[in-house]
Amino acid sequence: MNLNNAIIHLITGEITLQKKELLYEGKAKKMYLSSEEGYLIQEFKDDATAFNGTKKGVIPHKGEINNAISSFLFEYLENYHIPTHFVEKLSSTEMLVRKLEIIPIEIVMRNVAAGSLCARYNIPEGTIMEYPVLEHYLKDDKLHDPMINEYHAYAFGHANPEEMHAISRIAAKVNAILKSFFDRRNLILVDFKMEFGKRGLEINLGDEISPDTCRIWDKRTHKKLDKDRFRHDMGGVEKAYAELRDRIVNS
Ligand code: ADP
Ligand code: TMP
Ligand code: ASP
Repeated sequence: MNLNNAIIHLITGEITLQKKELLYEGKAKKMYLSSEEGYLIQEFKDDATAFNGTKKGVIPHKGEINNAISSFLFEYLENYHIPTHFVEKLSSTEMLVRKLEIIPIEIVMRNVAAGSLCARYNIPEGTIMEYPVLEHYLKDDKLHDPMINEYHAYAFGHANPEEMHAISRIAAKVNAILKSFFDRRNLILVDFKMEFGKRGLEINLGDEISPDTCRIWDKRTHKKLDKDRFRHDMGGVEKAYAELRDRIVNS
């Protein structure tokens, strides 16, 4: 479902919001301008990519599932005073967000060893780590998102030490909140990726939190309920996404 007009409630009161031209189309989402200055409409697509866009496919209903999960989790995080870009869910595949100046660094938090961490450090998948690991990757598909550290971020002019400190603090808090959220639903938050951006002087959590950007396993069976099923052709991708949505949103 797509919207052209929506009645929304901003701090300024009730307004009619219109969807304007496409600002940017990425691999998993489209960002549209809106009639309200400073607000974008984030539309989730069914398109799926992996390995920096080299593997392509479609996961039916992914757009609506990821919008439902992301909207729910952003709202949940707001209750814990995490500053996010989320304003409200507008339709099945669209959410209203505050426009951010995105810092081109992907922040990955890991609780259990999986994915590139296993390959890089020769650690068996599933190893529970004694302390969460925070990693930084440069958001640049052409360079295959190389791992960087905070000093690269300062040197390349992407963020200053104060901003990186705020990002690390928010990332650790988001991890703690979501880890226990998933644990209560008999799910393991293995790892996930976050993007942050600036709105004036404030750092906000942006983008999405969904099975595209997280690894989430069933606690008892370790069944994977995330994009690893698509990355590694494990089958049952749409079913796993829908199961995750139901376990997050409906319980
Ligand atoms: P990609 O650009 O990696 O292909 P997507 O398909 O998810 O990714 O596109 C969404 C784009 O919008 C991303 O580049 C992301 O950094 C950016 N973005 C996310 N939230 C906001 C926001 N609140 N304001 C501006 N840009 C955003
Ligand atoms: P990795 O193990 O491949 O480095 O991935 C770590 C986490 O980050 C995993 O939950 C998937 C997520 N991720 C993204 O959301 N986008 C990316 O481009 C990559 C590489 C990982
Ligand atoms: N997000 C990246 C891509 O779309 C990598 C991944 O998720 O595996 O290609």
